[in-house]
This record gives sequence, C-alpha cells and structure tokens, in this order.
Amino acid sequence: MAAAPRLLVVHHSRSGGTAALLDAALAGMRDPAVTGLDLVLQPVAEAGPDDVLGAAALVIATPVRFGGLAGLTRDFLERCYYPLLDRSPGFRYGLLVRGTTDASGAVRDVERIVAGLRWRPLLPPLVVERGEAGASSQPPLDEAERATAHEWGATIAALVAEGLT
Ligand SMILES: Cc1cc2nc3c(=O)[nH]c(=O)nc-3n(C[C@H](O)[C@H](O)[C@H](O)COP(=O)(O)O)c2cc1C
Repeated sequence: MAAAPRLLVVHHSRSGGTAALLDAALAGMRDPAVTGLDLVLQPVAEAGPDDVLGAAALVIATPVRFGGLAGLTRDFLERCYYPLLDRSPGFRYGLLVRGTTDASGAVRDVERIVAGLRWRPLLPPLVVERGEAGASSQPPLDEAERATAHEWGATIAALVAEGLT
C-alpha cells in the first residue's frame, strides 16, 4: 500500500498568537472526514530542506515581526532556498500568519521567496490581525476566526490527502 501523503507543518510562535491560530487550523486538518494524511508538525527552527523534500506539501505558520516575516521563519526559508531551488518546482504550500495591525509584509516576504522556488499556493494565505504587539499573550480567536481557520485547515488537508488535484 502506498504511503499516505505527508503534510509538513512548520511553526513558530513566541506569545501564543500564531500557535492559537494554528491550533484552530490543525483541528480542521485532523477532521475525521479527511483520511489518508500523514500530518507532521515541526518547530520551524528544527526543520530543514530534507524535511520539505520528504513532504507532499508544506504549511508555514508564522507571526509578523517589524513589518515582515519573523526571523526564525526567514531563517528556515533561507536555509531551504538553495538546497530546494530547481528541486521543488510546483511544490504546494499554505501560509498562516498572525499579526496585530498589518500582516501584509510577512505575506509579501514569503510570496517573494517561494516565487523564486516556483512553489504554488494550496489556498490563499490565512491571516488574522488582532491583539497588541509586544504583549506577553494574545487575545483568543473569536468564533468566526476559529471557523475560518478550521475550514482552511480542513481544505488544505483534503487537497493533500487527495493528491493535490
Ligand atoms: C517585536 C515584534 C514586532 C512585531 N511587529 C509586528 C508588525 O510589524 N505587524 C503586526 O501586525 N504585528 C506585529 N507584531 C505582533 C505579532 O505578530 C502578533 O502579536 C502575533 O500574534 C505574535 O506572535 P506570536 O504570539 O505567535 O509570537 C510584532 C510583535 C513583536 C513581538
């Protein structure tokens, strides 16, 4: 029997905001309606190009920092870029971003990098902008945000489980 396609989720969060958004998306990815998926989570600092090459698709879950991509997530992409260049054209990815007032710079940063790799999005990015920068914790998601994240995660998981048709 063929191995289930692997969906690798690399994640980073310092004050829990991105982690809460990812949890809601993971609830969708683990929806019992989605079967035949090998879901693997890795802190972004521990993931590298070999992990990406072993996956059918990738989700990047990251906060915004200083108008752009969080440093550790940038470091992950920096470490992956040349090892994956020309080895992963068409690779599918999803992007989940948590910020407070403006997450557009982080989305732009990732899109610029993956354009070089010729990766393709599974879905438009999942973005939540709320809370206070620098706070030691972030406000919980509201029902609508949770439902959107759940749906986003479930859709990505289904696409990967079905072979990205
Ligand atoms: C140093 C620092 C810089 C930040 N810069 C931005 C920013 O430019 N734009 C924004 O929307 N949020 C910014 N934030 C807010 C975080 O992205 C937001 O609070 C997120 O939920 C925190 O991430 P985390 O809880 O997953 O660590 C910043 C937070 C910190 C700590």
